[in-house]
Amino acid sequence: MIAESVLILDSHFAQTNDGQDIVEGLGKVPKTLPAKYFYDDRGSQLFEQICQLQEYYPTRVETEILNGCADEIAQITGISELVELGSGSSTKSRILLDSYQKKSQYCRYLPVDVSSGILSSSVAKLELQYPGFFIQGLAGSYEQALNFLKSHKQTRRLIFFLGSSLGNFDEHQSDLFLEQISNTLNPGDYFLLGVDLHKSLEILEAAYNDKQRVTEAFNLNMLSHINQRFRANFNLSLFTHQAIYNQAQHQIEMYLCSTQDQHICLAGLDFEVDLQKNERILTEISRKYDLLDMQNKLQKHQIKPLRTWSDPQQWFALILAQR
Ligand code: AVJ
Repeated sequence: MIAESVLILDSHFAQTNDGQDIVEGLGKVPKTLPAKYFYDDRGSQLFEQICQLQEYYPTRVETEILNGCADEIAQITGISELVELGSGSSTKSRILLDSYQKKSQYCRYLPVDVSSGILSSSVAKLELQYPGFFIQGLAGSYEQALNFLKSHKQTRRLIFFLGSSLGNFDEHQSDLFLEQISNTLNPGDYFLLGVDLHKSLEILEAAYNDKQRVTEAFNLNMLSHINQRFRANFNLSLFTHQAIYNQAQHQIEMYLCSTQDQHICLAGLDFEVDLQKNERILTEISRKYDLLDMQNKLQKHQIKPLRTWSDPQQWFALILAQR
C-alpha cells in the first residue's frame, strides 16, 4: 500500500555520488554544507514546527495568498498533472488540491520530497482524503525528480515550488535549477513559484531566531543527520546557531559556529576536516527577492509570468508562469 504509493528515486536519476557535495562544501572557504541535508525525517518534523511559529511569517502569509487565488489558478491551468517539489507534509498543497477537486473528480498529484518518511505518511493521508486522485510520491532530490519527470511526459503539467525554497540557491544555482524546470515543462505547461520578498531586518532576523529555538534545533539537526548517514562524529554541543540578514545580498545566512578547535571525521565519506574556534559553517542562505527581478528571471528561462498574487504588505508572492 504505502510502499507502492511512494517511488524511491535512485542514483539512476542523479549524476553526483551521495555525500560528495558535503566533501566539496567542507573544502570551501568559508565552509558550507548543502541545505538539503536539513531534511531527514527529524529535520522535516522540525521544519513543520517552524512553519507554525509566530515569528516565521512565510508559511502563514503564503497560505493566506493561496486561499485567495487557488480557484483562479485551477481555472487558468485547467486539469493538469500537479507536481510539487519539496512537498513535506503537503499542508499548503491541500488548498490547491481542493480547488482542482472542485473542477474534476480525477487528478494526478506527484509530491516530491527528500524525506521518504514524511512523504509516505502524507501520501497515505492524502489517498484517504482525495479518493478519486492518482497520488504518487517521489522520494528523492529535485534533480532526481526532474530527471524522472522528463522521461514521463504528461499532456498538461503544473509544477509548483512553494515556500520560497528557491531562496536556498545562489544566483548561479537558481539559474541552473530554473533551466531544469524549463526543460521539464512542455510548451504550455505551468510553473507556480512562491517567493519571499524584501522586508525589514528585524522581521527577517526574528523569523530565523525564534524564541522557542526550534530553528536552532533544525540547524543543529543537520549535523546529526550527517553523523548517521555518513558515519561522521560532529558533536552537536560544540556548535552554536547563528542567523543573520546580509542586507547587501538580501539573504538570511544561517551558520553553525564551532565553539572550539576541533577535528571531524566523516568515515563514510573517507574525509576529515579541521575547524577552528569561532569558525562558521554556512548551512543555508535564504534569499529575499525583488518581485520584478524574479518575473524577469523566469521570463529569461522561457517561463512567462501570467499572474502574480501577493499579500497587502507585499511580504510574499506567488507567481503563476507558463512555458
Ligand atoms: C524551506 C528553505 C524556504 O529558507 O525560510 C526555515 C527553511 N530555514 N527556517 C527558509 C528554513 C530556517 C526555509 N525554506
